[in-house]
Amino acid sequence: MASDVVTMDKIVALCKRRGFVFPASEIYGGIANTYDYGHYGVLLLQNVKAEWWKAMLQDRDDVVALDSAIIQHPKVWQSSGHLDGFSDPLVQCLGRCKKRFRLDHLQEAAVEAGEDPALVVCPNCGGELSEPREFNLMFKTQIGTVEESASTVYLRPETAQGIFVDFKQVLAISRKKPPFGIAQIGKSFRNEITPGNFIFRTLEFEQMEMEFFVPPSESTEWYEHWKQQRFDWYTKLGVRADHLRLRPHDEDELSHYSSRTADVEYLFPIGWSELEGVADRGDFDLTQHSKGAKTKIEVYDEATKERYVPHVIEPAAGVGRATLAFLVDAYDEEEVEGDVRTVLRLHPRLAPIKVAVFPLVKKDGQPELAKEIRDTLRRVGQTEYDESGAIGKRYRRQDEIGTPWCVTVDHQTLEDRTVTVRDRDSLEQTRVPIDELVALFAGRLAQDWVSPKPQD
Ligand code: GLY
Repeated sequence: MASDVVTMDKIVALCKRRGFVFPASEIYGGIANTYDYGHYGVLLLQNVKAEWWKAMLQDRDDVVALDSAIIQHPKVWQSSGHLDGFSDPLVQCLGRCKKRFRLDHLQEAAVEAGEDPALVVCPNCGGELSEPREFNLMFKTQIGTVEESASTVYLRPETAQGIFVDFKQVLAISRKKPPFGIAQIGKSFRNEITPGNFIFRTLEFEQMEMEFFVPPSESTEWYEHWKQQRFDWYTKLGVRADHLRLRPHDEDELSHYSSRTADVEYLFPIGWSELEGVADRGDFDLTQHSKGAKTKIEVYDEATKERYVPHVIEPAAGVGRATLAFLVDAYDEEEVEGDVRTVLRLHPRLAPIKVAVFPLVKKDGQPELAKEIRDTLRRVGQTEYDESGAIGKRYRRQDEIGTPWCVTVDHQTLEDRTVTVRDRDSLEQTRVPIDELVALFAGRLAQDWVSPKPQD
């Protein structure tokens, strides 16, 4: 078993081959940094999000859920600082190719190459570059059909602001007081021109964000708490700890709202890259909305009999990035009987299909019984029935999509009502009575799980 066989190209190819993820609008040549998720991709995303919700809601009592609108009042983005501060310095090639680039990225590359950053030219065609222009990352659209009278609105660049503007509402109805959090999963949009590295950076992306409101004196304690919680979330879902790290931001990396941020980073084939950020947003957002909306946003402290503006600790993760990390970390190749098998060693709870059920042959009542078993196993999770082709090929197919267990019905099953259960990782095959299957798989799904891939 090798742990370093994975490359981004292999992940992209597997995702396309098995229909996890593929370029959007591909019949028109695709569209920049935008992807569609197929059947197994959707199931995997659903499982990632379910695990996040579980960690936020089911496993604790101090977080409540929210689903706020993508299009908010435009003043939200004025107050939040995104209209003024959420921009990148762009330059355009004045030569042949007319492409646009992030000036800061070109300058960083020049410094790394020992060149003068003041003399950068177009990296594509060598042309001269325009003066830099600040380019806001928010997508603009409009409410109303008549262009002149329509009002400009924005697709949200982060889900967090919906939480801040609803804080008063949630505080009033949730029977919670700080420290408590509001969690939300939803799409956000950023007009990025930076090449995306597959689903690592996309124009529209799904965020899993939780704003945790605390008394100001407790912000350090909760900042440390959430950094550790979020790191542990990945390792509990099987990501190897030596491929994860927590990296504090340097002063010049901080977002306009943050006083300190640490990234949970994963060692992708493209190098260490951000999986999610844990930020101390202080009272920036609530104070801004208080001013912008001309309404007091405060909490009453029973103990001190004083009102205060809570501080916010925010763990903000991307569904796509987390999914990419799970795929990369799970990808493995190993030699079995002279063949190389590709296998996704996904945590069973993340695996798109939990159990695949096969008849060994397509006769003698085996297909009917296999379908019956498949129907019983639906209560454990997503199942798949497959009767086509050689049994070895069917196993390989399930290995590639990360199915932890395959159940095979054979001639013996019709005599003693036992089946073969094959384990994806150990390749062990055991004989199990049909009546014990539901309890067996339900039990294994509830158990802790450690990736069988070695740490490097
Ligand atoms: N809310 C933090 C972020 O979108 O990165």
